[in-house]
Amino acid sequence: MKGVILAGGTGSRLYPLTKVTNKHLLPVYNKPMIYYPIETLTKAGITDIIIVTGKEHAGNFLSLLGSGKEFGANFHYALQDEAGGIAQALALSEAFVNNDNITVILGDNIILDDISESIKSFTIGAKIFLKEVSDPQRFGVPEFDSNNKIIKIEEKPKVPKSKYAVTGLYQYDSTVFDKIHKLKPSQRGELEITDVNNLYLQDGKLVHAFLNKPWLDAGTFDSLITASNIIKELLNR
Ligand code: G1P
Repeated sequence: MKGVILAGGTGSRLYPLTKVTNKHLLPVYNKPMIYYPIETLTKAGITDIIIVTGKEHAGNFLSLLGSGKEFGANFHYALQDEAGGIAQALALSEAFVNNDNITVILGDNIILDDISESIKSFTIGAKIFLKEVSDPQRFGVPEFDSNNKIIKIEEKPKVPKSKYAVTGLYQYDSTVFDKIHKLKPSQRGELEITDVNNLYLQDGKLVHAFLNKPWLDAGTFDSLITASNIIKELLNR
């Protein structure tokens, strides 16, 4: 199992904080945001990790994270010339992944659950992780049938079909890349990770689990300060 951290994008929702730096380098309480997804992976035993980021700030990632030695990991880097969506960024890890299974985390997601069991037991297909939220319309949202099976995932639906968000933690087998190569850009001009998950669903190969601990997406002003406050509280306990 290899790890992929997606840390590109324009960070437009955090402008002007992101005018001269990348969103994932901004502080979440006492650490740069990207430290949290790195630690989620390394604590679960994944040490071969690729970080995909935009070319404007790639040098800062190298200066901050280096070879990964400080984290007990081996870091690799891939460059995204232009922001083209999460699935497009993921495609840039294909050569590094080289037919292995992967755990993917979005660089602005803070996941406090221990994911080591999920990593040990994953063999084939895809697994997504859900969390109940008060504002599902901001996220990918699953629709369930009467047997609690997911029948569809919708990206940022105006009228969400459940109160769950698809979090930015995913596990895929290496067929993920064939699926990405088949995708067409969405209405917002991006290759959507939700479309990838729906392709696994159509093949009957998507399973889901629920996160138990707090899940934070630090990509907006409000969620960024909430994330800092929650981490501070957890550390002070
Ligand atoms: C992305 C995904 C969305 C997911 C979210 C989790 O949204 O497209 O499906 O629920 O991450 O953080 P974005 O934050 O890029 O708008």
